[in-house]
Amino acid sequence: MELGRVLTRESVLDSDNRGFEVEEPCEASELEKQKAVTAIYNILSVLTFHSESTGRLVCGKRCSLTGTGLLGSSLNISLGRIKQSFVLTDPHLPDMPIVYASDAFLKLIGYARHEVLGRNCRFLSGADTDSTTLFQIKESIRNEQACTVRILNYRKDKSSFWNLLHISPVRNASGKIAYFVEVQIDEGWKDQDGQGLSPEIRRLGTVGAVKVAVRTTSMGAGPSKS
Ligand SMILES: Cc1cc2nc3c(=O)[nH]c(=O)nc-3n(C[C@H](O)[C@H](O)[C@H](O)COP(=O)(O)O)c2cc1C
Repeated sequence: MELGRVLTRESVLDSDNRGFEVEEPCEASELEKQKAVTAIYNILSVLTFHSESTGRLVCGKRCSLTGTGLLGSSLNISLGRIKQSFVLTDPHLPDMPIVYASDAFLKLIGYARHEVLGRNCRFLSGADTDSTTLFQIKESIRNEQACTVRILNYRKDKSSFWNLLHISPVRNASGKIAYFVEVQIDEGWKDQDGQGLSPEIRRLGTVGAVKVAVRTTSMGAGPSKS
């Protein structure tokens, strides 16, 4: 059954006044569709985590979201190797939800993975977030362009923080936009590890690593977004 169509049960009486139930198709609301997408993400992220952490198959299969429009397990594994703070959103799903969130990103915002997968990033903005900056992000997405902005965001505990973020489209092997990635740029950077990598170089490295992961998996068994 497609996501937008649901069956409703309705009790009716037949000619002998006996009650029976009929199922009628009806259109799901945007909220119901969003809830369904979130529920699917939560279930699949638990299965994928189980599959990755134990190396075991789920129901006789390697846990893969291929074909459902969600992230494949090989892409999940490749992204898991990137340690920086970033999220991936899927513009092909209703309201462009988060389909991947790195551990560093979750640590920064104080939410658990299942609380963010399936949601649009706007839950991070709040009362004092500058609407002009939000509009700037929206326009960049609409024009399929990269942007870097500094925006006031809120953690789960409601504390605010300045989020210096870079958003960029991510293309698959056939050149179509498959995802958008957001990478956090560390403003409080100090060259503590002696590697001398500036935040800009790190940002480029993270975006590059995500793009390579998406392109490589889309050449193989990953979802082909067209
Ligand atoms: C990849 C990506 C990451 C985003 N990250 C953030 C974020 O960290 N904080 C934020 O306030 N908005 C973020 N946004 C912007 C929101 O998702 C949304 O586009 C913005 O709130 C404007 O749209 P709206 O007016 O429909 O809410 C991100 C968008 C994308 C595509």
